[in-house]
Amino acid sequence: MKSIAIIYHSRQGHTQFIAEQIQIGAAQVENIQIDLFTAESLMAHPDLITQYDGLIWGSPTYLGGVSGIFKQLMDLTGPLWKKQSLKGKLSAGFTVSSLPAGDKQSTLISLFTFCMQHGMIWIGNPVLPEQHQGVPYTQALNRLGSWSGLMAQAEHQSAANAFDFGDIKTAQLFGQNFALNLNAIQR
Ligand SMILES: Cc1cc2nc3c(=O)[nH]c(=O)nc-3n(C[C@H](O)[C@H](O)[C@H](O)COP(=O)(O)O)c2cc1C
Repeated sequence: MKSIAIIYHSRQGHTQFIAEQIQIGAAQVENIQIDLFTAESLMAHPDLITQYDGLIWGSPTYLGGVSGIFKQLMDLTGPLWKKQSLKGKLSAGFTVSSLPAGDKQSTLISLFTFCMQHGMIWIGNPVLPEQHQGVPYTQALNRLGSWSGLMAQAEHQSAANAFDFGDIKTAQLFGQNFALNLNAIQR
């Protein structure tokens, strides 16, 4: 059995909704256990995540970067960095914002750099965009064209109604791909 922790911050529920879609996708792979953690819930004991084989990190994009609360958790992992407790774990990142671009790439780069500093192994989002095959933009897989990590765009509505179907499907495949990679690694 392999385990995944999905660690996220979400003030209005959109990033949480995408975290749950990633969980749904990963759960389609056998022998995988997935737990969700808010950034706030880990502040007192960030070391809880050392027991997981894979770590998926998610933050809303705030002013072109991770949110303050998410950054607070990142900084609290300093002692784990010192002991290299997360070295060799599989990792990935996702972000949600309200605009189609919205500088989401900066957030993913921040998550990537954080994972590299910890010596983790980064898994991207190898999902081909479907628009080329005539799938309507809102329905298409990886419609936002992000391979370095997962991006999703939230309309200003409650989380359950905020996402195009393409983003929901992509989040599930992103989770599934991560879990398949985790299972493929012999430890
Ligand atoms: C302080 C702040 C800064 C934001 N900056 C951006 C931004 O740079 N780009 C963008 O597209 N949306 C931006 N947004 C919108 C959020 O990314 C968006 O509402 C997201 O869905 C919030 O996620 P949550 O519901 O998980 O909290 C910002 C929102 C706030 C509150």
